[in-house]
Amino acid sequence: MPQDDSLSQSIHDLLPETGDRKVALERMQELNKLMSYYRCAMMEVVTKFNVLNEQFSLQFDRNPITGIKSRLKTVRSIQDKLERRGLPFSLESIEENLNDVAGVRVICSFTEDVHMLSEALMQQDDIQLIERKDYILNPKPNGYRSLHLIVSVPIFLAHEKKFMRVEIQLRTLAMDFWATLEHQLRYKKDFDFAESMGRELYTCAQLSAELDERMDGLRELVQKQIDGGLDVPEPRRRWVDQSHNLR
Ligand code: GTP
Ligand code: MG
Repeated sequence: MPQDDSLSQSIHDLLPETGDRKVALERMQELNKLMSYYRCAMMEVVTKFNVLNEQFSLQFDRNPITGIKSRLKTVRSIQDKLERRGLPFSLESIEENLNDVAGVRVICSFTEDVHMLSEALMQQDDIQLIERKDYILNPKPNGYRSLHLIVSVPIFLAHEKKFMRVEIQLRTLAMDFWATLEHQLRYKKDFDFAESMGRELYTCAQLSAELDERMDGLRELVQKQIDGGLDVPEPRRRWVDQSHNLR
């Protein structure tokens, strides 16, 4: 597994006053282990979504997921976030106070898929929901939309089972398009964003929401045609005919 470059920089902060090298090494290994647990939890969640995509694509003849991205926060950025909040930088503090060390972003085709996938995930009995923020139903004032879940997933180690938190963001292609560009333009930058630019971004967010709605309408129409037996692709018709003949 690749090691985090900022890891060694952070060791200094984990060192006790005495600066004991042996203690420093032990703490570095502990931190490395914790990061690897987060990486495993992230992989578990990615696999769960890949399995759901496989299953739903068989059921509906299309992929509800167009892409999955995952990222592990760097030790440097973990440290900065804890510092910003006035919290100590320690292994216990990381696990207790941060929900987004491991992050998974699922890009869906339609808004309907976002809800379908989140419900299917939460029905799995090994996963626990810690927090749910529905920025699709209640967009942020700047227009940001996505469904955020903080979950706790078990990872199975050689001799124990450990629950780790993962932040999941589910959004459509249109939501991702807006959020990615908005992030580039503004998110967490220090300068004052002109009000008119904010308004323009908000208008773009509304346009992207309208696009999602209209595409969802089209999806419903196609589904109705398929359900009603109209325009069913040739192979499926043949299968329906054969099953009929069997009776
Ligand atoms: P953080 O402490 O920054 O993680 O925020 P939070 O704990 O209030 O969580 P929230 O669910 O609001 O946001 C978490 C993540 O969602 C961020 O790290 C971004 O990836 C994404 N996000 C939230 N708001 C915005 C936004 O306005 N624009 C963009 N582009 N992304 C956002
Ligand atoms: Mg965050």
